[in-house]
Amino acid sequence: MRSPALPPGPGLVATFDFVRNPFRFLDACARRYGDWFTVRVPGVAPFLFTSDPAAVREVFLGDPDALHAGAANRPLGAFMGERSSLFLDGDEHLRQRRLLLPAFRGERMASHADAMRTAADNAIASWPIGQQFAIHPQLRSVTFETIVRTVFGFANDESGTELRRLILKVFALYSSRLGTLFSLPAMRIDAGRWSPWGRAVRLTRQIDAIFYAEIARRRSEGVEGRADVLSMLLSARYEDGQPLTDAVIRDEMYTLMLAGHETTAATMAWVINRLLAHADVKERAREEVFSVLNGAPLDASHVGKLKYLEAVINETMRLDPVVPNIGRQLTKPMTIAGRQLPEGVTIAPCIYLVHRRPELWPNPDQFNPDRFLESRQSPYAFLPFGGGARRCLGAAFATYQMKIVIAEILSRVELRPVPSYKAHATRRGIAFAPSEGLPVIIQARSS
Ligand code: HEM
Repeated sequence: MRSPALPPGPGLVATFDFVRNPFRFLDACARRYGDWFTVRVPGVAPFLFTSDPAAVREVFLGDPDALHAGAANRPLGAFMGERSSLFLDGDEHLRQRRLLLPAFRGERMASHADAMRTAADNAIASWPIGQQFAIHPQLRSVTFETIVRTVFGFANDESGTELRRLILKVFALYSSRLGTLFSLPAMRIDAGRWSPWGRAVRLTRQIDAIFYAEIARRRSEGVEGRADVLSMLLSARYEDGQPLTDAVIRDEMYTLMLAGHETTAATMAWVINRLLAHADVKERAREEVFSVLNGAPLDASHVGKLKYLEAVINETMRLDPVVPNIGRQLTKPMTIAGRQLPEGVTIAPCIYLVHRRPELWPNPDQFNPDRFLESRQSPYAFLPFGGGARRCLGAAFATYQMKIVIAEILSRVELRPVPSYKAHATRRGIAFAPSEGLPVIIQARSS
């Protein structure tokens, strides 16, 4: 039997724009091909992009054994390791995800509020006044530091400082021009310490050594009274009573580090970009922060009350999703939204395009946070964190942190845009961030 034909899509040269300017690329594809189009990259199964909400719903509610997210996520990075839940499928994925979930429940977030606020305050205090600077790298440092503290539970002692130094080095390597190609097996050749992959391997070994030593220390000393995610995983047990192995814990922790810090920092950069373009929204968000804090330092009791700020963050994630699509590889032929699809293709619900459909979002290009105050959004119309059995584990963590950091920025400094600057999306690790690191100017510090 012949495989059903795939819908048309852009050629290889046009597809290169996905790396240079993904939002422009997706807009152009939607204009030319409509709700479904095929993106082909040599050596990889075809990606079937769709912005049809019926297809999104079927993918999210579909059988995870037939729709493999792990297989589709594999190109995301070798650093995280084979046993990362991002790359697992079926029962293995479910078993591991169940152990991670409790650490990311909404009610656990309050224990991280102080670490999140301190990381933000330390960064903000170092920003120059009256001089242009790129704010996105600063936000990356804030999210990185938060994860090292709240997820890894590393202090600023000797091994914590060394771990930070080495992880930043390896991330810089992965984000370099050659490093972005590490997802291709042909680029992962260890030709000694001077070859790019050889350097990555050696750095990773050094990080592993510190990390495994910490696991051994906590296993022997106990983790009682610790609120960090690593300590929770050390005490977690599978249904059969078995603990997670050190190797699984290592892969999951590196996944949380990578999946958690770049996405959150890039989203906050887009929030700031939107606030700078909409002075009225910025003023309203700022007034809300001042009214909720009422002169007190920000703590966990304030976060839930910052409703308008949360709407601003959601509206930004609608228009500027840092992960513009997700993927599920079909393990058998399927019919999705009435369309026959062959085994092996990756169906890619396009977050960016679903978020701009006029029948779901009236005046879709207009930045209007009030939409999120007026009604609850359907999970098939608003999906910045993906959905179904694979929905982002860190969604509550990320939202909580973004509210704290943006509230601190709004209450402590007066930001101004750089007049000649216009943002476009550019790849930063696994997320898409505003170009040039989003240059801004601080006009003054608030008293
Ligand atoms: C604004 C910030 C973030 C965004 C936009 C984001 C987005 C996403 C998306 C789109 C997915 C794929 C979901 C799917 O395939 O349906 C995902 C998965 C995941 N994210 Fe996030 N994420 C963010 C922050 C975080 C944080 C802070 C953490 C952890 C500290 C995290 C951990 C994960 C993990 C572990 C997965 C894999 C879940 C699974 O496959 O079961 N993310 N995220």
